[in-house]
Amino acid sequence: MSADLVILNIGSLVTPYIVPPVKGEDMNKVKSLSNAFIAIKDGLILDFGEGEYSKYINKKTIIHDADGKLVLPGLIDSHTHLIHAGSREHEFALKMAGVPYLEILANGGGILSTVKSTRESSKKDLCNKAYYSLNEMLKLGVTTIEAKSGYGLNLETEVKQLEVAKELDTYQNIDIISTYLGAHATPLEYKGRKDEYIESVIKDLEVIKEKGLAKFVDIFCEDSVFNLEDSRRILSEAKKLGFEVKIHADEIVSLGGGGLAVELDASSADHLMAVSVEDIKKIAGSNVVANLLPSTSFYLNKDYANARLMIKEGCALAISSDYNPGSSPSENLQFSMQLGANKLKMSPSEILNAVTINAAYHLRIDKEVGSIEIGKKADLVIMDSFNLEYIMYHYGINHVKDVFKNGQLVVHNKQFI
Ligand code: NIG
Ligand code: FE
Repeated sequence: MSADLVILNIGSLVTPYIVPPVKGEDMNKVKSLSNAFIAIKDGLILDFGEGEYSKYINKKTIIHDADGKLVLPGLIDSHTHLIHAGSREHEFALKMAGVPYLEILANGGGILSTVKSTRESSKKDLCNKAYYSLNEMLKLGVTTIEAKSGYGLNLETEVKQLEVAKELDTYQNIDIISTYLGAHATPLEYKGRKDEYIESVIKDLEVIKEKGLAKFVDIFCEDSVFNLEDSRRILSEAKKLGFEVKIHADEIVSLGGGGLAVELDASSADHLMAVSVEDIKKIAGSNVVANLLPSTSFYLNKDYANARLMIKEGCALAISSDYNPGSSPSENLQFSMQLGANKLKMSPSEILNAVTINAAYHLRIDKEVGSIEIGKKADLVIMDSFNLEYIMYHYGINHVKDVFKNGQLVVHNKQFI
Protein backbone atom coordinates (compact mmCIF):
# COMPACT_ATOMS: atom_id res chain seq x y z
CA MET A 1 0.00 0.00 0.00
CA SER A 2 1.39 3.39 -0.91
CA ALA A 3 1.63 6.23 1.58
CA ASP A 4 0.52 9.86 1.32
CA LEU A 5 3.73 10.95 2.98
CA VAL A 6 7.06 9.35 3.82
CA ILE A 7 9.45 11.01 6.24
CA LEU A 8 12.88 9.65 5.54
CA ASN A 9 16.49 10.18 6.50
CA ILE A 10 15.53 10.24 10.19
CA GLY A 11 18.86 10.15 12.01
CA SER A 12 17.26 9.11 15.27
CA LEU A 13 13.64 8.08 15.89
CA VAL A 14 12.86 7.84 19.61
CA THR A 15 9.49 6.72 20.94
CA PRO A 16 7.87 5.14 23.99
CA TYR A 17 6.90 1.51 23.37
CA ILE A 18 5.70 0.13 26.70
CA VAL A 19 1.95 -0.18 27.31
CA PRO A 20 0.97 2.64 29.68
CA PRO A 21 0.92 3.57 32.46
CA VAL A 22 4.70 3.36 32.12
CA LYS A 23 5.88 3.02 35.72
CA GLY A 24 9.04 3.04 37.78
CA GLU A 25 12.13 1.63 36.07
CA ASP A 26 10.21 1.16 32.83
CA MET A 27 10.08 4.93 32.50
CA ASN A 28 13.72 4.82 31.43
CA LYS A 29 12.92 2.60 28.45
CA VAL A 30 12.31 3.96 24.95
CA LYS A 31 12.71 2.54 21.46
CA SER A 32 15.49 4.19 19.41
CA LEU A 33 15.95 3.62 15.70
CA SER A 34 18.60 5.11 13.42
CA ASN A 35 18.37 5.89 9.73
CA ALA A 36 14.65 5.39 9.99
CA PHE A 37 11.54 6.24 7.96
CA ILE A 38 7.86 6.82 8.80
CA ALA A 39 5.14 6.14 6.21
CA ILE A 40 1.82 7.97 6.71
CA LYS A 41 -1.59 7.36 5.17
CA ASP A 42 -4.86 9.19 5.88
CA GLY A 43 -3.25 11.03 8.78
CA LEU A 44 -2.21 7.81 10.52
CA ILE A 45 1.11 5.98 10.85
CA LEU A 46 1.12 3.22 8.24
CA ASP A 47 4.58 1.89 9.05
CA PHE A 48 7.94 2.94 10.44
CA GLY A 49 11.33 1.36 10.90
CA GLU A 50 14.91 1.15 9.72
CA GLY A 51 14.18 -1.02 6.70
CA GLU A 52 13.03 -0.65 3.14
CA TYR A 53 10.43 2.04 2.44
CA SER A 54 10.27 2.20 -1.37
CA LYS A 55 7.14 0.01 -1.43
CA TYR A 56 5.26 2.90 0.21
CA ILE A 57 6.15 5.41 -2.48
CA ASN A 58 4.18 6.12 -5.63
CA LYS A 59 4.00 9.17 -7.88
CA LYS A 60 1.72 11.06 -5.49
CA THR A 61 3.62 10.35 -2.28
CA ILE A 62 5.14 13.41 -0.63
CA ILE A 63 8.70 12.86 0.54
CA HIS A 64 9.90 14.81 3.56
CA ASP A 65 13.62 14.71 4.33
CA ALA A 66 14.37 14.84 8.08
CA ASP A 67 18.00 15.78 7.33
CA GLY A 68 19.35 13.15 9.70
CA LYS A 69 17.67 14.80 12.68
CA LEU A 70 15.74 13.55 15.72
CA VAL A 71 12.04 12.62 15.35
CA LEU A 72 9.71 12.25 18.33
CA PRO A 73 5.97 11.76 18.86
CA GLY A 74 4.08 15.07 19.16
CA LEU A 75 4.40 16.39 22.72
CA ILE A 76 1.34 16.38 25.00
CA ASP A 77 0.82 19.13 27.57
CA SER A 78 -1.57 17.38 29.94
CA HIS A 79 -2.24 20.17 32.48
CA THR A 80 -2.95 23.72 31.32
CA HIS A 81 -5.28 26.55 32.30
CA LEU A 82 -5.34 27.76 28.69
CA ILE A 83 -8.57 29.75 28.58
CA HIS A 84 -8.44 32.93 30.66
CA ALA A 85 -8.39 36.69 30.27
CA GLY A 86 -5.81 39.18 31.42
CA SER A 87 -2.45 38.68 33.06
CA ARG A 88 -1.04 39.17 36.55
CA GLU A 89 2.27 40.99 36.15
CA HIS A 90 0.99 43.46 38.78
CA GLU A 91 1.33 40.63 41.33
CA PHE A 92 4.88 39.88 40.29
CA ALA A 93 6.32 42.59 42.56
CA LEU A 94 4.38 41.14 45.51
CA LYS A 95 5.66 37.69 44.66
CA MET A 96 9.24 38.95 44.45
CA ALA A 97 8.79 40.71 47.79
CA GLY A 98 8.01 37.31 49.25
CA VAL A 99 4.22 37.50 49.67
CA PRO A 100 3.04 33.85 49.57
CA TYR A 101 0.85 32.64 46.70
CA LEU A 102 -1.97 31.59 49.05
CA GLU A 103 -1.88 34.97 50.82
CA ILE A 104 -2.35 36.83 47.52
CA LEU A 105 -5.36 34.56 46.86
CA ALA A 106 -6.78 35.04 50.36
CA ASN A 107 -6.67 38.81 49.79
CA GLY A 108 -8.87 38.56 46.71
CA GLY A 109 -5.99 38.53 44.19
CA GLY A 110 -4.45 35.58 42.40
CA ILE A 111 -7.01 33.24 40.86
CA LEU A 112 -9.80 35.64 41.89
CA SER A 113 -8.29 38.51 39.92
CA THR A 114 -8.22 36.33 36.78
CA VAL A 115 -11.83 35.33 37.54
CA LYS A 116 -12.82 38.99 37.43
CA SER A 117 -11.21 39.58 34.02
CA THR A 118 -12.48 36.29 32.60
CA ARG A 119 -16.06 37.08 33.63
CA GLU A 120 -15.76 40.48 31.94
CA SER A 121 -14.21 39.11 28.75
CA SER A 122 -16.11 38.27 25.57
CA LYS A 123 -15.86 34.83 24.02
CA LYS A 124 -14.09 36.36 21.05
CA ASP A 125 -11.38 37.91 23.25
CA LEU A 126 -10.90 34.68 25.18
CA CYS A 127 -10.60 32.81 21.90
CA ASN A 128 -8.04 35.23 20.49
CA LYS A 129 -5.82 35.09 23.57
CA ALA A 130 -5.95 31.29 23.73
CA TYR A 131 -5.33 31.03 19.99
CA TYR A 132 -2.12 33.01 20.42
CA SER A 133 -0.99 30.59 23.16
CA LEU A 134 -1.92 27.55 21.07
CA ASN A 135 0.25 28.86 18.25
CA GLU A 136 3.16 29.25 20.68
CA MET A 137 2.61 25.68 21.88
CA LEU A 138 2.41 24.26 18.36
CA LYS A 139 5.71 25.88 17.40
CA LEU A 140 7.15 24.21 20.52
CA GLY A 141 6.06 20.79 19.26
CA VAL A 142 2.89 20.35 21.32
CA THR A 143 0.13 18.60 19.35
CA THR A 144 -2.38 17.81 22.15
CA ILE A 145 -3.25 19.62 25.37
CA GLU A 146 -5.60 19.40 28.30
CA ALA A 147 -7.33 22.71 29.16
CA LYS A 148 -9.15 23.47 32.40
CA SER A 149 -11.90 25.95 33.12
CA GLY A 150 -11.85 27.43 36.63
CA TYR A 151 -11.69 31.17 36.03
CA GLY A 152 -15.45 31.63 35.89
CA LEU A 153 -16.56 30.17 39.22
CA ASN A 154 -20.14 30.62 38.05
CA LEU A 155 -21.98 28.47 35.55
CA GLU A 156 -22.20 31.11 32.86
CA THR A 157 -18.48 31.84 32.72
CA GLU A 158 -17.33 28.24 33.25
CA VAL A 159 -19.51 27.25 30.29
CA LYS A 160 -18.10 30.19 28.32
CA GLN A 161 -14.54 28.97 28.94
CA LEU A 162 -15.38 25.38 28.01
CA GLU A 163 -17.25 26.44 24.88
CA VAL A 164 -14.24 28.48 23.78
CA ALA A 165 -12.04 25.40 24.22
CA LYS A 166 -14.50 23.30 22.20
CA GLU A 167 -14.62 25.88 19.44
CA LEU A 168 -10.84 26.23 19.28
CA ASP A 169 -10.55 22.46 19.09
CA THR A 170 -12.46 22.53 15.81
CA TYR A 171 -10.37 25.08 13.91
CA GLN A 172 -6.76 25.08 15.04
CA ASN A 173 -4.19 22.32 14.95
CA ILE A 174 -3.80 21.27 18.59
CA ASP A 175 -6.31 18.75 19.98
CA ILE A 176 -7.87 20.04 23.20
CA ILE A 177 -9.22 17.80 25.98
CA SER A 178 -11.37 19.76 28.44
CA THR A 179 -11.61 19.63 32.21
CA TYR A 180 -14.20 21.36 34.40
CA LEU A 181 -12.50 23.07 37.36
CA GLY A 182 -15.43 24.91 38.97
CA ALA A 183 -13.80 24.10 42.33
CA HIS A 184 -10.70 26.20 41.68
CA ALA A 185 -11.50 28.70 44.47
CA THR A 186 -14.54 30.02 46.31
CA PRO A 187 -15.68 33.16 44.47
CA LEU A 188 -15.98 36.44 46.35
CA GLU A 189 -19.79 36.46 46.28
CA TYR A 190 -19.70 33.19 48.29
CA LYS A 191 -17.07 34.42 50.77
CA GLY A 192 -17.63 32.64 54.10
CA ARG A 193 -20.18 30.31 52.42
CA LYS A 194 -17.90 27.70 50.89
CA ASP A 195 -20.39 24.87 51.44
CA GLU A 196 -23.04 26.68 49.46
CA TYR A 197 -20.56 27.21 46.64
CA ILE A 198 -19.74 23.48 46.70
CA GLU A 199 -23.49 22.75 46.36
CA SER A 200 -23.66 25.00 43.33
CA VAL A 201 -20.63 23.29 41.72
CA ILE A 202 -22.27 19.91 42.27
CA LYS A 203 -25.47 21.18 40.67
CA ASP A 204 -23.56 22.58 37.70
CA LEU A 205 -21.85 19.24 37.04
CA GLU A 206 -25.07 18.00 35.48
CA VAL A 207 -25.23 20.92 33.06
CA ILE A 208 -21.59 20.47 32.02
CA LYS A 209 -22.28 16.78 31.44
CA GLU A 210 -25.48 17.38 29.47
CA LYS A 211 -23.73 19.90 27.24
CA GLY A 212 -20.82 17.49 26.70
CA LEU A 213 -18.32 20.21 27.59
CA ALA A 214 -15.76 18.30 29.67
CA LYS A 215 -14.27 14.84 29.95
CA PHE A 216 -12.68 15.40 33.38
CA VAL A 217 -13.51 17.18 36.63
CA ASP A 218 -10.66 18.62 38.70
CA ILE A 219 -10.39 20.42 42.06
CA PHE A 220 -7.80 22.62 43.79
CA CYS A 221 -7.38 20.52 46.96
CA GLU A 222 -5.27 22.87 49.06
CA ASP A 223 -4.99 24.46 52.47
CA SER A 224 -7.62 27.23 52.76
CA VAL A 225 -9.03 26.42 49.29
CA PHE A 226 -10.86 23.03 49.24
CA ASN A 227 -10.03 20.41 51.86
CA LEU A 228 -10.01 16.63 51.48
CA GLU A 229 -13.67 16.24 52.45
CA ASP A 230 -14.78 18.95 49.97
CA SER A 231 -12.73 17.27 47.26
CA ARG A 232 -14.09 13.81 48.02
CA ARG A 233 -17.64 15.17 47.89
CA ILE A 234 -17.38 16.99 44.57
CA LEU A 235 -15.34 14.35 42.79
CA SER A 236 -17.57 11.49 43.98
CA GLU A 237 -20.59 13.31 42.53
CA ALA A 238 -18.64 13.86 39.31
CA LYS A 239 -17.86 10.16 39.07
CA LYS A 240 -21.53 9.26 39.55
CA LEU A 241 -22.28 11.34 36.46
CA GLY A 242 -19.63 9.48 34.45
CA PHE A 243 -16.79 12.01 34.56
CA GLU A 244 -13.22 10.92 35.16
CA VAL A 245 -11.47 12.94 37.84
CA LYS A 246 -8.17 14.69 38.55
CA ILE A 247 -6.85 16.51 41.61
CA HIS A 248 -4.53 19.49 42.12
CA ALA A 249 -2.95 17.61 45.02
CA ASP A 250 -0.38 18.52 47.67
CA GLU A 251 0.89 21.50 45.68
CA ILE A 252 1.81 23.80 48.55
CA VAL A 253 0.70 22.07 51.76
CA SER A 254 0.65 18.30 52.29
CA LEU A 255 -3.08 17.61 52.75
CA GLY A 256 -3.33 14.06 51.44
CA GLY A 257 -4.67 14.86 47.96
CA GLY A 258 -2.34 12.23 46.48
CA GLY A 259 -3.90 9.53 48.64
CA LEU A 260 -7.38 10.78 47.80
CA ALA A 261 -6.57 10.47 44.09
CA VAL A 262 -5.86 6.77 44.66
CA GLU A 263 -9.01 6.31 46.77
CA LEU A 264 -11.12 7.85 43.98
CA ASP A 265 -9.23 6.12 41.16
CA ALA A 266 -8.44 9.51 39.63
CA SER A 267 -6.68 9.53 36.27
CA SER A 268 -3.99 11.83 37.68
CA ALA A 269 -2.78 13.59 40.82
CA ASP A 270 -1.15 16.84 39.77
CA HIS A 271 1.68 18.89 41.33
CA LEU A 272 2.63 16.71 44.36
CA MET A 273 5.44 19.05 45.42
CA ALA A 274 4.49 18.49 49.07
CA VAL A 275 3.14 14.92 48.87
CA SER A 276 3.92 12.53 51.75
CA VAL A 277 6.02 9.40 51.29
CA GLU A 278 3.00 7.36 52.34
CA ASP A 279 0.93 8.84 49.51
CA ILE A 280 3.76 8.32 47.01
CA LYS A 281 3.59 4.62 47.90
CA LYS A 282 -0.17 4.59 47.44
CA ILE A 283 0.18 6.24 44.01
CA ALA A 284 2.88 3.73 43.04
CA GLY A 285 0.49 0.88 43.82
CA SER A 286 -2.21 2.35 41.58
CA ASN A 287 -2.69 3.48 37.98
CA VAL A 288 -2.97 7.14 39.01
CA VAL A 289 -0.42 9.16 37.02
CA ALA A 290 1.67 11.59 39.07
CA ASN A 291 1.57 14.66 36.84
CA LEU A 292 4.52 16.89 37.79
CA LEU A 293 4.67 20.59 36.95
CA PRO A 294 8.23 21.78 37.53
CA SER A 295 7.66 25.15 35.83
CA THR A 296 5.33 25.99 38.74
CA SER A 297 8.01 25.15 41.31
CA PHE A 298 10.41 27.30 39.32
CA TYR A 299 8.05 30.26 39.12
CA LEU A 300 6.79 30.08 42.74
CA ASN A 301 10.32 29.41 44.03
CA LYS A 302 9.05 26.27 45.72
CA ASP A 303 10.51 22.81 46.23
CA TYR A 304 10.42 20.48 43.27
CA ALA A 305 8.44 17.23 43.45
CA ASN A 306 10.50 14.23 44.51
CA ALA A 307 10.46 12.53 41.12
CA ARG A 308 13.37 10.20 41.91
CA LEU A 309 11.60 8.74 44.93
CA MET A 310 8.38 8.44 42.94
CA ILE A 311 10.17 6.51 40.19
CA LYS A 312 12.00 4.35 42.74
CA GLU A 313 8.68 3.46 44.38
CA GLY A 314 7.19 2.61 40.97
CA CYS A 315 4.96 5.57 40.07
CA ALA A 316 4.00 6.54 36.51
CA LEU A 317 4.99 10.18 35.92
CA ALA A 318 3.85 12.80 33.45
CA ILE A 319 5.28 16.31 33.09
CA SER A 320 3.27 19.33 31.99
CA SER A 321 3.56 23.10 31.85
CA ASP A 322 0.59 24.12 34.08
CA TYR A 323 0.37 27.15 31.78
CA ASN A 324 -1.71 29.74 33.69
CA PRO A 325 -1.49 33.48 34.46
CA GLY A 326 -0.53 33.07 38.13
CA SER A 327 1.78 30.22 39.03
CA SER A 328 3.18 29.32 35.60
CA PRO A 329 2.87 32.06 32.99
CA SER A 330 4.66 30.17 30.22
CA GLU A 331 3.42 27.94 27.40
CA ASN A 332 6.86 26.38 27.07
CA LEU A 333 6.62 22.63 27.68
CA GLN A 334 10.21 22.18 26.51
CA PHE A 335 11.29 24.35 29.43
CA SER A 336 9.30 22.09 31.80
CA MET A 337 11.13 19.13 30.25
CA GLN A 338 14.48 20.83 30.80
CA LEU A 339 13.53 21.45 34.44
CA GLY A 340 12.53 17.79 34.54
CA ALA A 341 16.15 16.95 33.80
CA ASN A 342 17.90 19.67 35.79
CA LYS A 343 15.64 19.85 38.86
CA LEU A 344 13.62 16.62 38.95
CA LYS A 345 16.78 14.68 37.97
CA MET A 346 14.87 12.65 35.42
CA SER A 347 16.65 11.04 32.47
CA PRO A 348 15.82 12.10 28.90
CA SER A 349 14.00 8.79 28.32
CA GLU A 350 11.93 9.20 31.49
CA ILE A 351 11.04 12.72 30.40
CA LEU A 352 10.00 11.54 26.94
CA ASN A 353 7.65 8.94 28.44
CA ALA A 354 6.33 11.67 30.75
CA VAL A 355 5.37 14.14 28.00
CA THR A 356 4.00 11.60 25.54
CA ILE A 357 2.57 8.20 26.47
CA ASN A 358 1.92 8.74 30.20
CA ALA A 359 0.31 12.09 29.42
CA ALA A 360 -1.83 10.39 26.77
CA TYR A 361 -2.72 7.63 29.22
CA HIS A 362 -4.07 9.91 31.93
CA LEU A 363 -6.01 11.90 29.32
CA ARG A 364 -7.37 8.51 28.14
CA ILE A 365 -6.20 9.00 24.55
CA ASP A 366 -3.26 6.58 24.56
CA LYS A 367 -4.82 4.41 21.85
CA GLU A 368 -4.60 7.35 19.42
CA VAL A 369 -1.50 9.34 20.36
CA GLY A 370 1.55 9.35 22.63
CA SER A 371 3.95 7.14 20.69
CA ILE A 372 5.08 6.34 17.17
CA GLU A 373 3.08 3.20 16.54
CA ILE A 374 1.29 1.77 13.51
CA GLY A 375 -2.33 2.98 13.45
CA LYS A 376 -1.79 5.98 15.73
CA LYS A 377 -2.18 9.58 14.59
CA ALA A 378 0.80 10.91 12.68
CA ASP A 379 1.48 13.65 15.25
CA LEU A 380 5.23 14.04 14.94
CA VAL A 381 7.99 16.55 15.59
CA ILE A 382 11.35 16.88 13.93
CA MET A 383 13.86 18.44 16.33
CA ASP A 384 16.77 20.54 15.18
CA SER A 385 19.10 18.19 17.02
CA PHE A 386 20.63 14.74 16.60
CA ASN A 387 19.78 13.18 19.95
CA LEU A 388 17.27 13.38 22.81
CA GLU A 389 19.86 14.36 25.44
CA TYR A 390 20.60 17.59 23.58
CA ILE A 391 16.99 18.78 24.04
CA MET A 392 17.32 18.67 27.84
CA TYR A 393 20.84 20.08 27.89
CA HIS A 394 20.53 23.17 25.67
CA TYR A 395 17.84 24.93 27.67
CA GLY A 396 15.53 27.89 27.17
CA ILE A 397 15.29 27.70 23.38
CA ASN A 398 12.86 26.02 21.05
CA HIS A 399 14.39 22.92 19.45
CA VAL A 400 11.49 22.14 17.14
CA LYS A 401 12.13 22.39 13.41
CA ASP A 402 9.03 20.78 11.84
CA VAL A 403 5.66 19.65 13.22
CA PHE A 404 3.19 17.24 11.62
CA LYS A 405 -0.38 17.10 12.92
CA ASN A 406 -2.51 14.22 11.61
CA GLY A 407 0.11 13.73 8.90
CA GLN A 408 -0.04 17.36 7.74
CA LEU A 409 3.04 19.56 7.87
CA VAL A 410 1.93 22.53 10.00
CA VAL A 411 5.30 24.00 11.07
CA HIS A 412 8.28 23.96 8.71
CA ASN A 413 11.69 25.36 9.61
CA LYS A 414 10.08 26.94 12.72
CA GLN A 415 7.49 28.81 10.62
CA PHE A 416 3.77 28.12 10.23
CA ILE A 417 2.80 26.71 6.85
O1 NIG B 1 -2.16 24.78 38.95
N1 NIG B 1 -3.10 25.78 41.86
C1 NIG B 1 -4.12 26.12 41.31
N2 NIG B 1 -4.25 26.45 40.05
C2 NIG B 1 -3.17 26.86 39.23
C3 NIG B 1 -2.84 28.28 39.44
C4 NIG B 1 -3.88 29.15 38.97
C5 NIG B 1 -3.60 30.61 39.11
O2 NIG B 1 -2.78 31.05 39.94
O3 NIG B 1 -4.25 31.34 38.34
C6 NIG B 1 -2.00 25.91 39.38
O4 NIG B 1 -0.94 26.26 39.90
FE1 FE C 1 -2.94 23.84 37.59
